[in-house]
Amino acid sequence: MITQKIKIDPENIDIQLLKKAADALKGGGLAAFPTETVYGLGADAFNEQAVKNIYKAKGRPSDNPMIVHIADKKDICRVCREVPESAELLMKKFSPGPITYILKKNKNINDTVTAGLGTVAVRIPSNNIARELIKLSGTPIAAPSANLSGKPSPTKAEHVIEDMDGKIEYIIDGGSCRIGLESTVIDMTGSFPVILRPGGITMEMIQQYIPETVLNTHIKGDIPKSPGMKYKHYAPDADVVVIEGERRNGVIEKINELCRKNAGKHIGVILKEKTSAEISADFILYAGKTSDEYASNLFALLRECDKKNADIVFAEIDSSDGIGTAVKNRIYKASANNIIKV
Ligand code: TXA
Ligand code: MG
Repeated sequence: MITQKIKIDPENIDIQLLKKAADALKGGGLAAFPTETVYGLGADAFNEQAVKNIYKAKGRPSDNPMIVHIADKKDICRVCREVPESAELLMKKFSPGPITYILKKNKNINDTVTAGLGTVAVRIPSNNIARELIKLSGTPIAAPSANLSGKPSPTKAEHVIEDMDGKIEYIIDGGSCRIGLESTVIDMTGSFPVILRPGGITMEMIQQYIPETVLNTHIKGDIPKSPGMKYKHYAPDADVVVIEGERRNGVIEKINELCRKNAGKHIGVILKEKTSAEISADFILYAGKTSDEYASNLFALLRECDKKNADIVFAEIDSSDGIGTAVKNRIYKASANNIIKV
């Protein structure tokens, strides 16, 4: 298959061009599109075969359900059976935006989208291109992140091209994703909200409106609340080791000690910012001082480590709040919980 690549300016959308990708979606095809979090790989949520093709293109296990994207709150009745008051409240405050609600599904949503669960994940993205694409296609769009299963989520069109060229009908290049980490996933089907995946809308922000909200990214028994949580995610080919702590407590010294111990390997280091100390690694990448910068750069940096053929990567992180919780969640997973605290 030849993948059509189109460039769309989010500030000045060429509707005729975007309509081509929307028509492909309507016809059962797949199109990758930018959102404010990461790029998504979309299909008509009501077309079961098209959704099956997403699993195939990604190499995604079929027990991992997808998020259904809508452009407008009023379309939620097309996918859900009921919207509890608490979800209405959060939607009023945070949607459109980087948050996904788990709600009871209605019968229009097939088992392929939800991997057989009675619930459905719904998100209203705020990215202009994403919303316009969904509107033009006239249907809710099922879309996981547009990476090969197990790879870091794509935050630029070139990442999508690396993983999906020749496998899908369209790739829409709308530039870099503003946030860079996937949306917050929050289960609204119980008596209080449970955050299953931390993201751009933080627990602190949600607790302002619903104080009893909790964070639970743990897997209990064999049936995780959110099936995606059980897979090793966001993993580059290199081994990742997280070095967590403050510089004044010797983070840089620890990284150097590990570089020496691993001499002979091709070593990459991810630092928050420059240091005057000499680092004995093969290459150093900088993620940014703030948690926001770290979030937006993390996945691109993990991909770059692979391009540079790193055998091992030492990544500096420090104590965190806000979106830093999501950064930690993703980098811990990338390291398969190989964490050294300093
Ligand atoms: O920001 C995002 O959320 C991006 C963009 C494209 O919207 N999408 C994304 O999709 O990250 P994906 O498929 O990579 O992650 C969806 C997560 C998975 O962990 C999945 O298991 C969980 O949401 N999920 C989907 N439906 C669910 C459900 N009914 N119950 C619990 N978890 C669900
Ligand atoms: Mg994903």
